[in-house]
Amino acid sequence: MIPWNKPAPADVNRQDPENVFAAGTRNHHISNTAYPIAHNVTWKPYRVDRNANASLVESAFADAETISLYSHIPFCETRCYFCEYTVVGKKELDAASDYMKLLSRELAMFRSLLGERSLSGFDIGGGTPSFVNAPLMAEHVDEVRKAFRTAPGFAISIETTPRIASTEPEKMKAYADMGIERISMGIQVVQPDLLKHLGRSENGLDHHRKACDHIRGAGFKKFNIDLMYGFAKQSDQSWEATLRHAIALEPDYITLYRMRYKLTRISAEAADVTLEPVLRQAKLASEMLRSAGYIANPGKNTYSRIPKDTGTSAYLTRRVIEGSTYLGLGLGAQTFTDTTISYNDGAASKSIAPYAKSIAEGRLPIQDLYHLPLEHMMAKMIAVSFYFGEIRADAFEKKFKVSLEEAFPREIEFALKEGLMHWSISENGQEIPELDRRALSLTPHGARNFNGTIALFFAPSVQSYLIHRQSQADMHRHAASAQLVADKNDAA
Ligand SMILES: C[S@@+](CC[C@H](N)C(=O)[O-])C[C@H]1O[C@@H](n2cnc3c(N)ncnc32)[C@H](O)[C@@H]1O
Ligand code: SF4
Repeated sequence: MIPWNKPAPADVNRQDPENVFAAGTRNHHISNTAYPIAHNVTWKPYRVDRNANASLVESAFADAETISLYSHIPFCETRCYFCEYTVVGKKELDAASDYMKLLSRELAMFRSLLGERSLSGFDIGGGTPSFVNAPLMAEHVDEVRKAFRTAPGFAISIETTPRIASTEPEKMKAYADMGIERISMGIQVVQPDLLKHLGRSENGLDHHRKACDHIRGAGFKKFNIDLMYGFAKQSDQSWEATLRHAIALEPDYITLYRMRYKLTRISAEAADVTLEPVLRQAKLASEMLRSAGYIANPGKNTYSRIPKDTGTSAYLTRRVIEGSTYLGLGLGAQTFTDTTISYNDGAASKSIAPYAKSIAEGRLPIQDLYHLPLEHMMAKMIAVSFYFGEIRADAFEKKFKVSLEEAFPREIEFALKEGLMHWSISENGQEIPELDRRALSLTPHGARNFNGTIALFFAPSVQSYLIHRQSQADMHRHAASAQLVADKNDAA
């Protein structure tokens, strides 16, 4: 492993936990699991020159015997206005087939750079990966299996939309037959005028039952449904109807995403969302899901009705619990080692051309590579671990060679004193027997104060960015009052 980078001056002194907590709460739209914040500023000192990418990646992976893999498929029928992912415009199957060839070449490049490794999980995400026809997907899965050994617990997961699952049962069957064990289907919301406002193409709620029947009939072992809340134009009643609808479909798991407005087509609407309705919707979801038999500890966003099953894919589970190394293939995909994080070409432009050019020229298609100091790597691991509402102490110590208590003494003291977190024995993750299960977990009060609590663990530069930044709602109010003043001046 290469050593951690030296922290820049902005990352040397930690901020006062009380101020950080307040700043995270105030900036609740951006203080969440999507770390880092303002990377153009906070990660600028750590950006690596493009010419050094390949050699640094190779050394960063040196000690990672077991890794996870993610393949990004950026196609969708239409781009939903709320989507935060790297998605290209509507393309026909030819574009998808050319793209799968690029993915295959990227896989081969990494295979020759890294040599033999074991995979603990493999996620095929997007975009809408099930846009790709079954033979092409089978080829990709086959290439991955040939390129890597598989570690115990290895499993593959894929994402789909209701439209594809309801209209293409043969594809669902073929995916399950090629050994894809878990499937996740995005329903998001069911309110028709909200769907329209979000630019989400739908083929009717009555098709959801059919989609579920096809998924069950295909033989997937694990089935998740994604829902979204916290939209400006979402009423509590419509959220309740969405939850009722999803519960009636009886998936194994339901994952809730609070809308993150940053960099989406409707980002201006964030200013209309205050914390109060968001918390009300989260509470309603937790109560309804719990009474329907879906369990999640405070702060966790995947609810599972299968005992001792976290509900997440093998890839994500390892990422969340252990902060394990993963390789991301495809447009804009993210790669994470113990000391580096990189984003592939297309992350910013959302265009395939630069990615294709890099591959054609035999170069790793990396747009930005950051060699990070301990402060940011810890923050990244912890931000992701908040998907499960807890930080696993043993996993943290194994990764960073320092205990959680030593790394964050004042922050943990604050979180305990304020009743935001408590020491517990984790219920998430009997599937990693070599880890001890001691965890620093969110309390129900901490889950309600998620955005402030997570910020306690961010690196100093990100904390100070949050402290000095006005919240979006404040900016909106200021803009509105400036407008009022301007209007008054005009009238005068
Ligand atoms: C990569 S998307 C793909 C799912 C699939 N294409 C679909 O739309 O059903 C995975 C999930 O991320 C969530 N998501 C998308 N945009 C989001 C945003 N701006 N904030 C929070 N969650 C988001 C949605 O719940 C979505 O199902
Ligand atoms: S939410 Fe899903 S279908 Fe909509 S644009 Fe994003 S990835 Fe595509």
